[in-house]
Amino acid sequence: MVLVTLYVSRLWKEFWGIKPKQPPTYRGWLPWFGCAMEFGKGPLHFINKKSKELGSIFSIKVTGEYMTFVTDPKDFQYFFQSPCLDFQKAVQGPVQNVVSITKESFFAYHSSIHDLVKGKLASSQLAPMSDKLYTEFKEQLAKLPESGTIDLNRLIRSVLYKSVLNILFGKNILPTDDEQYRELEDNFTKFDEQFEYGSKLPAFLLGGWSQSRQYLIDMFKNLVDSEKKKSQDLPVSEKTLLHNVLECVDKENSPNYSVLLLWATLANSIPMIFWTMAFIVTRQSVYEKVCNEIEEKLPEKLETITEADLRKMPYLKSCILETVRLRSPGIIPRYVAKPFKIRDLTVPAGNLIFASPFWAHRNPEHYPDPEEHKPERWNMKDVERNIFPEYFFAFGGGRFQCPGRWFGLMEIQIFVIMFLKQFTCEAFDPVPQPSPFHIVGTQQPLGPCMVEFHRKNVI
Ligand code: HEM
Repeated sequence: MVLVTLYVSRLWKEFWGIKPKQPPTYRGWLPWFGCAMEFGKGPLHFINKKSKELGSIFSIKVTGEYMTFVTDPKDFQYFFQSPCLDFQKAVQGPVQNVVSITKESFFAYHSSIHDLVKGKLASSQLAPMSDKLYTEFKEQLAKLPESGTIDLNRLIRSVLYKSVLNILFGKNILPTDDEQYRELEDNFTKFDEQFEYGSKLPAFLLGGWSQSRQYLIDMFKNLVDSEKKKSQDLPVSEKTLLHNVLECVDKENSPNYSVLLLWATLANSIPMIFWTMAFIVTRQSVYEKVCNEIEEKLPEKLETITEADLRKMPYLKSCILETVRLRSPGIIPRYVAKPFKIRDLTVPAGNLIFASPFWAHRNPEHYPDPEEHKPERWNMKDVERNIFPEYFFAFGGGRFQCPGRWFGLMEIQIFVIMFLKQFTCEAFDPVPQPSPFHIVGTQQPLGPCMVEFHRKNVI
Protein backbone atom coordinates (compact mmCIF):
# COMPACT_ATOMS: atom_id res chain seq x y z
CA MET A 1 0.00 0.00 0.00
CA VAL A 2 2.79 2.41 1.01
CA LEU A 3 4.72 1.62 -2.18
CA VAL A 4 1.64 2.20 -4.32
CA THR A 5 1.02 5.58 -2.62
CA LEU A 6 4.65 6.62 -3.15
CA TYR A 7 4.51 5.55 -6.81
CA VAL A 8 1.27 7.42 -7.46
CA SER A 9 2.58 10.55 -5.74
CA ARG A 10 5.72 10.44 -7.92
CA LEU A 11 3.65 10.09 -11.09
CA TRP A 12 1.46 12.93 -9.90
CA LYS A 13 4.46 15.21 -9.33
CA GLU A 14 5.98 14.31 -12.68
CA PHE A 15 2.65 14.83 -14.45
CA TRP A 16 2.19 18.32 -12.99
CA GLY A 17 5.87 19.17 -13.45
CA ILE A 18 6.44 19.74 -9.70
CA LYS A 19 10.20 20.06 -9.35
CA PRO A 20 12.10 19.24 -6.18
CA LYS A 21 12.58 22.34 -4.03
CA GLN A 22 15.95 23.97 -4.75
CA PRO A 23 17.92 26.17 -2.35
CA PRO A 24 16.91 29.85 -2.35
CA THR A 25 18.98 31.55 -5.04
CA TYR A 26 20.43 35.03 -5.42
CA ARG A 27 20.98 35.81 -9.10
CA GLY A 28 22.22 39.40 -8.87
CA TRP A 29 21.10 41.89 -11.51
CA LEU A 30 23.53 41.44 -14.40
CA PRO A 31 22.63 38.89 -17.07
CA TRP A 32 25.13 35.96 -17.13
CA PHE A 33 27.53 37.72 -14.68
CA GLY A 34 24.91 37.30 -11.96
CA CYS A 35 26.36 38.59 -8.69
CA ALA A 36 30.01 38.19 -9.74
CA MET A 37 30.84 41.84 -8.91
CA GLU A 38 29.33 41.77 -5.41
CA PHE A 39 30.87 38.38 -4.69
CA GLY A 40 34.31 39.44 -5.96
CA LYS A 41 34.41 42.57 -3.75
CA GLY A 42 34.74 40.44 -0.60
CA PRO A 43 33.65 36.81 -1.08
CA LEU A 44 34.13 35.77 2.54
CA HIS A 45 31.72 38.37 3.93
CA PHE A 46 29.34 37.97 1.00
CA ILE A 47 28.79 34.30 1.96
CA ASN A 48 27.90 35.32 5.51
CA LYS A 49 25.60 38.15 4.39
CA LYS A 50 23.68 35.89 2.02
CA SER A 51 23.36 33.07 4.56
CA LYS A 52 21.74 35.55 6.97
CA GLU A 53 19.30 36.66 4.25
CA LEU A 54 18.57 33.31 2.58
CA GLY A 55 19.26 30.64 5.19
CA SER A 56 22.15 28.28 5.91
CA ILE A 57 21.89 26.57 2.47
CA PHE A 58 21.63 28.91 -0.52
CA SER A 59 22.81 29.34 -4.11
CA ILE A 60 24.21 32.27 -6.04
CA LYS A 61 24.71 32.78 -9.76
CA VAL A 62 28.21 33.81 -10.81
CA THR A 63 29.37 34.07 -14.45
CA GLY A 64 26.71 31.69 -15.72
CA GLU A 65 27.29 29.03 -13.04
CA TYR A 66 25.31 28.20 -9.93
CA MET A 67 27.25 27.87 -6.70
CA THR A 68 25.59 26.47 -3.59
CA PHE A 69 26.86 27.13 -0.06
CA VAL A 70 26.34 25.04 3.06
CA THR A 71 27.17 26.96 6.23
CA ASP A 72 25.58 25.05 9.14
CA PRO A 73 28.10 22.62 10.67
CA LYS A 74 25.26 20.17 11.43
CA ASP A 75 25.12 19.44 7.68
CA PHE A 76 28.86 18.94 7.18
CA GLN A 77 29.24 15.22 7.99
CA TYR A 78 26.45 14.50 5.53
CA PHE A 79 28.08 16.83 2.95
CA PHE A 80 31.52 15.19 3.22
CA GLN A 81 30.17 11.62 3.17
CA SER A 82 27.68 12.02 0.31
CA PRO A 83 28.31 9.83 -2.78
CA CYS A 84 26.51 12.52 -4.84
CA LEU A 85 29.35 15.01 -4.30
CA ASP A 86 32.68 14.67 -6.09
CA PHE A 87 35.98 16.20 -4.96
CA GLN A 88 38.00 15.45 -8.09
CA LYS A 89 35.49 16.93 -10.54
CA ALA A 90 35.34 20.09 -8.42
CA VAL A 91 39.09 20.71 -8.41
CA GLN A 92 40.24 19.35 -11.78
CA GLY A 93 39.36 22.53 -13.77
CA PRO A 94 41.01 24.93 -11.28
CA VAL A 95 44.10 22.67 -11.09
CA GLN A 96 44.37 22.73 -14.88
CA ASN A 97 44.05 26.53 -14.92
CA VAL A 98 46.55 27.05 -12.15
CA VAL A 99 49.36 24.63 -12.98
CA SER A 100 48.38 23.28 -16.45
CA ILE A 101 48.06 19.62 -15.42
CA THR A 102 46.05 17.95 -18.18
CA LYS A 103 42.62 16.51 -17.43
CA GLU A 104 43.73 12.99 -18.40
CA SER A 105 46.77 13.12 -16.15
CA PHE A 106 44.79 14.53 -13.22
CA PHE A 107 42.15 11.80 -13.27
CA ALA A 108 44.81 9.12 -13.80
CA TYR A 109 47.05 10.11 -10.88
CA HIS A 110 45.14 12.21 -8.36
CA SER A 111 43.91 9.37 -6.11
CA SER A 112 47.37 7.76 -5.96
CA ILE A 113 49.04 11.07 -5.07
CA HIS A 114 46.47 11.69 -2.35
CA ASP A 115 46.98 8.22 -0.86
CA LEU A 116 50.74 8.56 -1.07
CA VAL A 117 50.83 11.91 0.80
CA LYS A 118 48.33 10.54 3.33
CA GLY A 119 50.51 7.47 3.94
CA LYS A 120 53.77 9.42 4.23
CA LEU A 121 52.34 12.05 6.59
CA ALA A 122 50.02 9.80 8.62
CA SER A 123 50.19 10.38 12.37
CA SER A 124 51.86 6.96 12.76
CA GLN A 125 54.73 8.11 10.48
CA LEU A 126 55.47 11.40 12.20
CA ALA A 127 58.01 10.35 14.85
CA PRO A 128 61.07 10.96 12.62
CA MET A 129 59.48 14.18 11.33
CA SER A 130 59.56 15.85 14.75
CA ASP A 131 63.35 15.47 14.90
CA LYS A 132 63.72 16.78 11.35
CA LEU A 133 61.56 19.82 12.19
CA TYR A 134 63.61 20.43 15.34
CA THR A 135 66.90 20.30 13.42
CA GLU A 136 65.71 22.51 10.57
CA PHE A 137 64.11 25.15 12.80
CA LYS A 138 67.23 25.20 14.97
CA GLU A 139 69.40 25.89 11.92
CA GLN A 140 67.12 28.60 10.50
CA LEU A 141 66.43 30.30 13.87
CA ALA A 142 70.18 30.49 14.53
CA LYS A 143 70.44 32.75 11.45
CA LEU A 144 68.10 35.39 12.93
CA PRO A 145 69.79 38.48 14.39
CA GLU A 146 70.09 38.82 18.20
CA SER A 147 67.18 41.26 18.20
CA GLY A 148 65.01 43.18 15.81
CA THR A 149 61.72 44.83 14.96
CA ILE A 150 59.87 43.20 12.09
CA ASP A 151 56.46 42.26 10.71
CA LEU A 152 55.69 38.88 12.27
CA ASN A 153 54.50 37.46 8.94
CA ARG A 154 57.81 38.36 7.29
CA LEU A 155 59.76 36.83 10.17
CA ILE A 156 57.82 33.57 9.97
CA ARG A 157 58.13 33.20 6.23
CA SER A 158 61.88 33.78 6.38
CA VAL A 159 62.32 30.82 8.74
CA LEU A 160 59.53 28.50 7.65
CA TYR A 161 59.75 28.33 3.86
CA LYS A 162 63.32 27.09 3.91
CA SER A 163 62.75 24.61 6.73
CA VAL A 164 59.66 23.01 5.21
CA LEU A 165 61.20 22.84 1.74
CA ASN A 166 64.34 21.19 3.09
CA ILE A 167 62.27 18.53 4.86
CA LEU A 168 59.59 17.73 2.30
CA PHE A 169 61.46 18.45 -0.94
CA GLY A 170 65.06 17.65 0.01
CA LYS A 171 67.88 19.43 1.74
CA ASN A 172 69.05 22.33 -0.42
CA ILE A 173 67.58 21.08 -3.70
CA LEU A 174 65.68 24.35 -4.13
CA PRO A 175 67.68 27.63 -4.28
CA THR A 176 69.65 28.22 -1.11
CA ASP A 177 71.85 31.18 -1.95
CA ASP A 178 70.20 34.22 -0.39
CA GLU A 179 69.36 36.15 -3.53
CA GLN A 180 67.97 33.19 -5.46
CA TYR A 181 66.07 32.07 -2.42
CA ARG A 182 64.41 35.50 -2.02
CA GLU A 183 63.40 35.26 -5.68
CA LEU A 184 61.71 31.92 -4.96
CA GLU A 185 59.97 33.33 -1.90
CA ASP A 186 58.72 36.41 -3.82
CA ASN A 187 57.45 34.31 -6.69
CA PHE A 188 55.72 31.83 -4.42
CA THR A 189 54.08 34.67 -2.46
CA LYS A 190 52.73 36.24 -5.68
CA PHE A 191 51.56 32.86 -6.95
CA ASP A 192 49.77 32.13 -3.69
CA GLU A 193 48.19 35.61 -3.37
CA GLN A 194 46.40 35.33 -6.71
CA PHE A 195 45.90 31.56 -6.71
CA GLU A 196 42.12 31.95 -6.62
CA TYR A 197 42.04 34.35 -9.57
CA GLY A 198 44.41 32.02 -11.43
CA SER A 199 42.04 29.12 -10.91
CA LYS A 200 39.24 31.02 -12.68
CA LEU A 201 40.75 33.51 -15.16
CA PRO A 202 42.90 32.85 -18.25
CA ALA A 203 46.62 33.25 -17.45
CA PHE A 204 47.10 36.11 -19.97
CA LEU A 205 44.83 38.33 -17.86
CA LEU A 206 47.08 37.88 -14.84
CA GLY A 207 50.48 39.15 -16.03
CA GLY A 208 52.55 39.11 -12.81
CA TRP A 209 50.87 35.99 -11.54
CA SER A 210 51.56 34.04 -14.76
CA GLN A 211 55.22 34.99 -14.60
CA SER A 212 55.52 33.72 -11.04
CA ARG A 213 53.75 30.51 -11.98
CA GLN A 214 56.13 30.04 -14.91
CA TYR A 215 59.12 30.73 -12.66
CA LEU A 216 58.00 27.93 -10.31
CA ILE A 217 57.29 25.46 -13.13
CA ASP A 218 60.68 26.21 -14.74
CA MET A 219 62.44 25.82 -11.41
CA PHE A 220 61.05 22.29 -11.11
CA LYS A 221 61.66 21.51 -14.80
CA ASN A 222 65.36 21.97 -14.07
CA LEU A 223 65.44 19.47 -11.26
CA VAL A 224 62.73 16.81 -11.58
CA ASP A 225 64.74 14.45 -13.82
CA SER A 226 67.83 14.45 -11.64
CA GLU A 227 65.77 14.12 -8.43
CA LYS A 228 63.79 11.21 -9.84
CA LYS A 229 67.01 9.47 -10.83
CA LYS A 230 68.54 10.16 -7.43
CA SER A 231 65.52 8.77 -5.62
CA GLN A 232 65.84 5.40 -7.37
CA ASP A 233 69.06 4.69 -5.44
CA LEU A 234 67.82 5.96 -2.07
CA PRO A 235 66.48 3.72 0.71
CA VAL A 236 62.75 4.28 1.32
CA SER A 237 63.41 6.08 4.61
CA GLU A 238 65.53 8.74 2.86
CA LYS A 239 63.15 9.54 0.04
CA THR A 240 61.44 12.91 0.41
CA LEU A 241 57.78 13.59 -0.31
CA LEU A 242 58.83 15.11 -3.65
CA HIS A 243 60.73 11.92 -4.57
CA ASN A 244 57.66 9.84 -3.80
CA VAL A 245 55.38 12.05 -5.87
CA LEU A 246 57.81 12.10 -8.83
CA GLU A 247 57.86 8.31 -8.83
CA CYS A 248 54.06 8.25 -8.93
CA VAL A 249 53.19 10.72 -11.76
CA ASP A 250 53.79 11.01 -15.52
CA LYS A 251 57.03 12.62 -16.69
CA GLU A 252 55.38 15.38 -18.79
CA ASN A 253 53.36 16.76 -15.88
CA SER A 254 55.87 16.15 -13.09
CA PRO A 255 57.13 19.80 -12.80
CA ASN A 256 53.48 20.91 -12.62
CA TYR A 257 52.59 18.39 -9.89
CA SER A 258 55.67 19.59 -7.99
CA VAL A 259 54.35 23.19 -8.02
CA LEU A 260 50.98 21.94 -6.77
CA LEU A 261 52.69 20.01 -3.97
CA LEU A 262 54.71 23.10 -3.08
CA TRP A 263 51.49 25.11 -2.79
CA ALA A 264 49.67 22.46 -0.74
CA THR A 265 52.53 22.14 1.73
CA LEU A 266 53.01 25.90 2.30
CA ALA A 267 49.80 27.77 1.54
CA ASN A 268 47.81 26.82 4.65
CA SER A 269 50.43 25.92 7.19
CA ILE A 270 52.64 29.03 6.96
CA PRO A 271 49.82 31.57 7.48
CA MET A 272 48.44 29.31 10.25
CA ILE A 273 51.81 29.56 12.07
CA PHE A 274 51.66 33.34 11.66
CA TRP A 275 48.13 33.51 13.11
CA THR A 276 49.00 31.23 16.02
CA MET A 277 52.01 33.34 16.97
CA ALA A 278 49.95 36.53 16.53
CA PHE A 279 47.17 35.27 18.84
CA ILE A 280 49.79 34.29 21.44
CA VAL A 281 52.14 37.28 21.45
CA THR A 282 49.43 39.95 21.34
CA ARG A 283 47.97 38.89 24.71
CA GLN A 284 50.24 38.93 27.76
CA SER A 285 48.25 36.32 29.73
CA VAL A 286 48.24 33.78 26.87
CA TYR A 287 51.90 34.52 26.09
CA GLU A 288 52.93 33.88 29.71
CA LYS A 289 50.87 30.72 29.98
CA VAL A 290 52.41 29.24 26.83
CA CYS A 291 55.95 30.24 27.90
CA ASN A 292 55.38 28.75 31.38
CA GLU A 293 54.11 25.49 29.90
CA ILE A 294 57.21 25.27 27.70
CA GLU A 295 59.54 26.05 30.63
CA GLU A 296 57.85 23.55 32.94
CA LYS A 297 57.48 20.65 30.54
CA LEU A 298 60.76 20.75 28.61
CA PRO A 299 64.36 20.57 29.83
CA GLU A 300 66.37 23.80 29.73
CA LYS A 301 68.76 22.44 27.14
CA LEU A 302 66.93 20.78 24.25
CA GLU A 303 68.44 17.92 22.25
CA THR A 304 65.33 17.31 20.17
CA ILE A 305 61.54 17.48 20.49
CA THR A 306 59.51 14.27 20.45
CA GLU A 307 55.83 13.53 20.07
CA ALA A 308 55.79 12.61 23.77
CA ASP A 309 57.09 16.14 24.57
CA LEU A 310 54.31 17.67 22.49
CA ARG A 311 51.65 15.68 24.33
CA LYS A 312 52.79 17.32 27.57
CA MET A 313 51.70 20.74 26.29
CA PRO A 314 47.91 20.72 25.84
CA TYR A 315 47.56 24.46 26.45
CA LEU A 316 49.78 25.28 23.48
CA LYS A 317 47.88 22.76 21.36
CA SER A 318 44.57 24.40 22.38
CA CYS A 319 45.95 27.80 21.33
CA ILE A 320 46.80 26.29 17.95
CA LEU A 321 43.44 24.56 17.45
CA GLU A 322 41.60 27.72 18.50
CA THR A 323 43.61 29.61 15.87
CA VAL A 324 42.84 26.98 13.24
CA ARG A 325 39.13 27.29 14.16
CA LEU A 326 39.19 31.06 13.58
CA ARG A 327 41.27 31.00 10.40
CA SER A 328 39.82 27.94 8.65
CA PRO A 329 39.34 27.95 4.87
CA GLY A 330 36.40 30.05 3.69
CA ILE A 331 35.17 27.32 1.37
CA ILE A 332 35.79 23.65 0.54
CA PRO A 333 34.46 22.67 -2.91
CA ARG A 334 32.65 19.64 -4.29
CA TYR A 335 30.94 19.04 -7.65
CA VAL A 336 27.30 17.89 -7.56
CA ALA A 337 27.56 14.72 -9.66
CA LYS A 338 24.00 13.52 -8.88
CA PRO A 339 21.07 15.56 -7.47
CA PHE A 340 21.99 16.12 -3.84
CA LYS A 341 19.18 16.06 -1.26
CA ILE A 342 19.92 18.05 1.84
CA ARG A 343 17.22 18.84 4.44
CA ASP A 344 14.07 19.53 2.35
CA LEU A 345 16.12 20.85 -0.58
CA THR A 346 17.62 19.31 -3.70
CA VAL A 347 20.75 20.78 -5.28
CA PRO A 348 20.71 19.96 -9.00
CA ALA A 349 23.53 17.99 -10.64
CA GLY A 350 26.10 20.25 -12.31
CA ASN A 351 26.28 22.87 -9.53
CA LEU A 352 29.42 23.53 -7.58
CA ILE A 353 28.74 23.22 -3.86
CA PHE A 354 30.84 24.54 -0.98
CA ALA A 355 31.02 23.89 2.74
CA SER A 356 32.25 26.92 4.66
CA PRO A 357 34.32 25.96 7.73
CA PHE A 358 35.18 29.65 8.32
CA TRP A 359 31.52 30.49 8.99
CA ALA A 360 30.58 27.11 10.48
CA HIS A 361 33.25 27.71 13.13
CA ARG A 362 31.55 31.00 14.01
CA ASN A 363 28.23 29.41 14.89
CA PRO A 364 27.53 30.59 18.48
CA GLU A 365 25.53 27.43 19.21
CA HIS A 366 28.76 25.40 19.08
CA TYR A 367 31.32 28.10 19.83
CA PRO A 368 29.91 30.78 22.19
CA ASP A 369 31.57 34.22 21.68
CA PRO A 370 32.75 32.86 18.34
CA GLU A 371 35.06 35.76 17.42
CA GLU A 372 37.01 35.45 20.68
CA HIS A 373 40.25 33.43 20.65
CA LYS A 374 39.68 31.29 23.77
CA PRO A 375 42.08 28.34 24.16
CA GLU A 376 40.10 27.39 27.30
CA ARG A 377 37.10 26.31 25.24
CA TRP A 378 38.99 23.17 24.13
CA ASN A 379 38.61 20.00 26.15
CA MET A 380 42.16 19.21 27.28
CA LYS A 381 41.59 15.45 27.36
CA ASP A 382 40.42 15.43 23.73
CA VAL A 383 43.29 17.73 22.74
CA GLU A 384 45.80 15.31 24.30
CA ARG A 385 44.19 12.38 22.46
CA ASN A 386 44.01 14.20 19.09
CA ILE A 387 40.21 14.07 19.01
CA PHE A 388 38.55 16.98 17.18
CA PRO A 389 35.14 18.26 18.33
CA GLU A 390 32.06 17.18 16.39
CA TYR A 391 31.69 20.55 14.66
CA PHE A 392 35.30 21.20 13.62
CA PHE A 393 36.02 20.96 9.89
CA ALA A 394 39.19 22.96 9.22
CA PHE A 395 40.75 20.05 7.35
CA GLY A 396 37.73 19.11 5.24
CA GLY A 397 36.35 15.59 5.42
CA GLY A 398 35.54 12.34 3.67
CA ARG A 399 37.80 10.46 1.25
CA PHE A 400 39.89 13.53 0.34
CA GLN A 401 40.33 15.14 3.75
CA CYS A 402 43.63 17.07 4.15
CA PRO A 403 46.38 14.43 4.24
CA GLY A 404 48.90 16.87 5.77
CA ARG A 405 46.90 17.82 8.88
CA TRP A 406 48.96 15.95 11.50
CA PHE A 407 52.23 17.15 10.02
CA GLY A 408 50.79 20.70 9.81
CA LEU A 409 49.80 20.72 13.48
CA MET A 410 53.19 19.32 14.47
CA GLU A 411 55.00 22.01 12.46
CA ILE A 412 53.12 24.75 14.32
CA GLN A 413 53.73 23.19 17.75
CA ILE A 414 57.47 22.73 17.23
CA PHE A 415 57.98 26.16 15.67
CA VAL A 416 56.18 28.00 18.50
CA ILE A 417 58.10 26.05 21.14
CA MET A 418 61.48 26.66 19.54
CA PHE A 419 60.86 30.33 18.87
CA LEU A 420 59.53 31.13 22.33
CA LYS A 421 62.26 29.10 24.02
CA GLN A 422 64.91 31.20 22.31
CA PHE A 423 63.33 34.63 21.96
CA THR A 424 61.23 37.09 23.91
CA CYS A 425 58.63 38.64 21.66
CA GLU A 426 56.53 41.76 22.17
CA ALA A 427 53.78 42.88 19.77
CA PHE A 428 53.09 46.54 18.88
CA ASP A 429 49.95 45.84 16.87
CA PRO A 430 46.77 43.87 17.60
CA VAL A 431 46.03 40.69 15.61
CA PRO A 432 45.28 41.91 12.06
CA GLN A 433 41.99 41.19 10.35
CA PRO A 434 41.95 38.23 7.92
CA SER A 435 41.75 39.18 4.25
CA PRO A 436 38.18 38.70 2.94
CA PHE A 437 39.58 37.86 -0.52
CA HIS A 438 41.29 34.60 0.41
CA ILE A 439 38.54 32.01 0.57
CA VAL A 440 40.10 28.81 -0.76
CA GLY A 441 42.65 28.34 2.00
CA THR A 442 43.75 29.99 5.22
CA GLN A 443 43.37 33.76 5.02
CA GLN A 444 46.35 36.08 4.73
CA PRO A 445 46.56 39.00 7.22
CA LEU A 446 45.13 42.31 5.97
CA GLY A 447 47.78 44.39 7.70
CA PRO A 448 51.11 44.04 9.48
CA CYS A 449 51.68 42.78 13.02
CA MET A 450 54.91 44.44 14.12
CA VAL A 451 56.88 42.68 16.84
CA GLU A 452 60.16 43.22 18.67
CA PHE A 453 62.20 40.12 19.48
CA HIS A 454 65.34 39.50 21.57
CA ARG A 455 67.34 36.31 21.80
CA LYS A 456 67.37 35.05 25.39
CA ASN A 457 68.73 31.50 24.97
CA VAL A 458 70.61 29.51 22.40
CA ILE A 459 69.20 26.00 22.10
C1 HEM B 1 47.47 23.57 9.21
C2 HEM B 1 47.06 23.96 8.12
C3 HEM B 1 46.28 23.23 7.05
C4 HEM B 1 44.95 23.37 6.77
C5 HEM B 1 43.95 24.27 7.50
C6 HEM B 1 44.66 22.51 5.65
C7 HEM B 1 43.41 22.37 5.08
C8 HEM B 1 43.13 21.61 3.96
C9 HEM B 1 41.82 21.43 3.39
C10 HEM B 1 40.55 22.08 3.91
C11 HEM B 1 41.94 20.64 2.31
C12 HEM B 1 40.80 20.15 1.39
C13 HEM B 1 40.16 18.91 2.03
C14 HEM B 1 38.80 18.52 1.46
O1 HEM B 1 38.48 18.93 0.34
O2 HEM B 1 38.05 17.81 2.15
C15 HEM B 1 43.34 20.29 2.19
C16 HEM B 1 43.86 19.49 1.19
C17 HEM B 1 45.20 19.18 1.10
N1 HEM B 1 46.19 19.44 2.04
FE1 HEM B 1 45.97 20.54 3.71
N2 HEM B 1 45.81 21.88 5.26
C18 HEM B 1 46.83 22.27 6.10
C19 HEM B 1 48.13 21.84 6.07
C20 HEM B 1 48.66 20.99 5.13
C21 HEM B 1 50.03 20.53 5.10
C22 HEM B 1 51.10 20.93 6.09
C23 HEM B 1 50.15 19.70 4.01
C24 HEM B 1 51.34 18.94 3.50
C25 HEM B 1 52.49 18.89 4.08
C26 HEM B 1 48.85 19.64 3.37
C27 HEM B 1 48.58 18.92 2.22
C28 HEM B 1 47.36 18.90 1.58
C29 HEM B 1 47.14 18.25 0.29
C30 HEM B 1 48.19 17.53 -0.56
C31 HEM B 1 45.78 18.43 -0.01
C32 HEM B 1 45.07 18.01 -1.30
C33 HEM B 1 44.46 16.64 -1.15
C34 HEM B 1 43.94 16.10 -2.46
O3 HEM B 1 44.02 16.75 -3.51
O4 HEM B 1 43.44 14.97 -2.45
N3 HEM B 1 47.97 20.42 4.08
N4 HEM B 1 44.05 20.88 3.22
